[in-house]
Amino acid sequence: MMKKPLLFARELVGLTLKEGDTAVDATCGNGHDTLFLAELVGKTGSVLAFDIQQEALKNTKNRLSQAGLAHRVSLIHASHASLSSYISAVPSAIMFNLGYLPGGDHQMKTDTQSTLLALEVSVSAIKKGGVITIMAYTGHPGGEEEYSAVFEYLSALPQQEFSVLSYQPINQRNNPPVLLAVFRI
Ligand SMILES: C[S@@+](CC[C@H](N)C(=O)[O-])C[C@H]1O[C@@H](n2cnc3c(N)ncnc32)[C@H](O)[C@@H]1O
Repeated sequence: MMKKPLLFARELVGLTLKEGDTAVDATCGNGHDTLFLAELVGKTGSVLAFDIQQEALKNTKNRLSQAGLAHRVSLIHASHASLSSYISAVPSAIMFNLGYLPGGDHQMKTDTQSTLLALEVSVSAIKKGGVITIMAYTGHPGGEEEYSAVFEYLSALPQQEFSVLSYQPINQRNNPPVLLAVFRI
């Protein structure tokens, strides 16, 4: 049975992230990935979670509090483009879920320029053996352009240092999401 791209992203992160590690959710949204990361880093690890919308941070905080894991996560009301100002330990996993907040304002979405800046920082910051996952959506205005720019940037990473994969259903209608994953060798 084929795994949906988001589930496959989590599987890749799950194979990498260990108790005590640091992880980043670059687009916390409603907090599903943040909670997933907070569970994986265990009692001794930590997660940084970014979003530009207060509403997203509130939703994420609620989700974490319900699970009793809010203390493992630093919620940061800032663009992921400023990631380098907040990282104090080398992250083993960084997750991006591009686009807009489900159930929120569709105009408040990731944009090509800040996504590329955040990816550049992520690529230099990620631990050796670590993984960066990017879920990209092409069905909304600007989504195709963002995906193409990310694809082009990641395709040019040196193969001695990084392996990059693309995972996408190719016979599905209505712009299925694409997973891009970067593994630091
Ligand atoms: C598809 S949603 C993320 C969904 C999330 N992974 C979840 O589990 O619910 C994308 C999020 O990225 C946020 N976002 C947009 N631009 C951003 C930026 N420059 N930095 C950080 N977050 C951003 C949006 O506000 C939105 O909440």
